[in-house]
Amino acid sequence: MEFREAIMRRYATKRFDGRQIPQDKIEELLEIVRWAPSGLNIQPWRIKVVSNAGLKEELSAAAWDEPQIKSCSHLLVFCADTDYAGLVAKLLPAMKEAGVPEKVCEIVKGIAEEMGHMPPASWLTYAKCQVHLAVSYAILGAKDLGFDSCPMTHFEPDEFARILEIPANLVPTLLCPVGYAADQAPPKWRYPKEDLLLP
Ligand SMILES: Cc1cc2nc3c(=O)[nH]c(=O)nc-3n(C[C@H](O)[C@H](O)[C@H](O)COP(=O)(O)O)c2cc1C
Repeated sequence: MEFREAIMRRYATKRFDGRQIPQDKIEELLEIVRWAPSGLNIQPWRIKVVSNAGLKEELSAAAWDEPQIKSCSHLLVFCADTDYAGLVAKLLPAMKEAGVPEKVCEIVKGIAEEMGHMPPASWLTYAKCQVHLAVSYAILGAKDLGFDSCPMTHFEPDEFARILEIPANLVPTLLCPVGYAADQAPPKWRYPKEDLLLP
């Protein structure tokens, strides 16, 4: 599918038909998400993929019983990683391993040290912003691969963390149920470009 066609045909699906997406397609979707950009390329995200019906049922109650949770094929729970020191410790050797020039590694190291002075709450906000970008790759990637999705923040992160036994350093931030739509796309609308641009 053309990129622009994916943009225009994607919509926040409210109900899926319950069919399972083949595992190889889910792997392809995760591969797309893996290439999302992030500040410093620090990639402060982890994803829990839930396909078990019983678990989805349990999670549904912690997401106001929005129909996407139980009817989707796979529920991707995008988490922000609050372990800044751990992320930096992983980042620098990985950059070297990937062949990033020494000079660039040094610059990133300096910025990472500066950013290390951020209060934890600011880091969490920063990490959550990066997670949102990763989810934008997921929703467009899903459409490109022939299925549907819905970004969702209407859920209780603490309950999700408890039910899914998510490690304490990870904060469930955004849900992305994927599946085959059982509803109709509503009329797509956005404000006109004049409202987008500042004079
Ligand atoms: C960050 C974010 C959170 C959202 N949370 C929910 C949600 O919890 N439940 C839901 O049904 N839709 C949710 N949506 C979908 C939006 O309502 C939808 O994207 C918006 O109305 C535009 O419609 P479209 O995506 O179909 O073009 C969310 C979208 C975003 C970007």
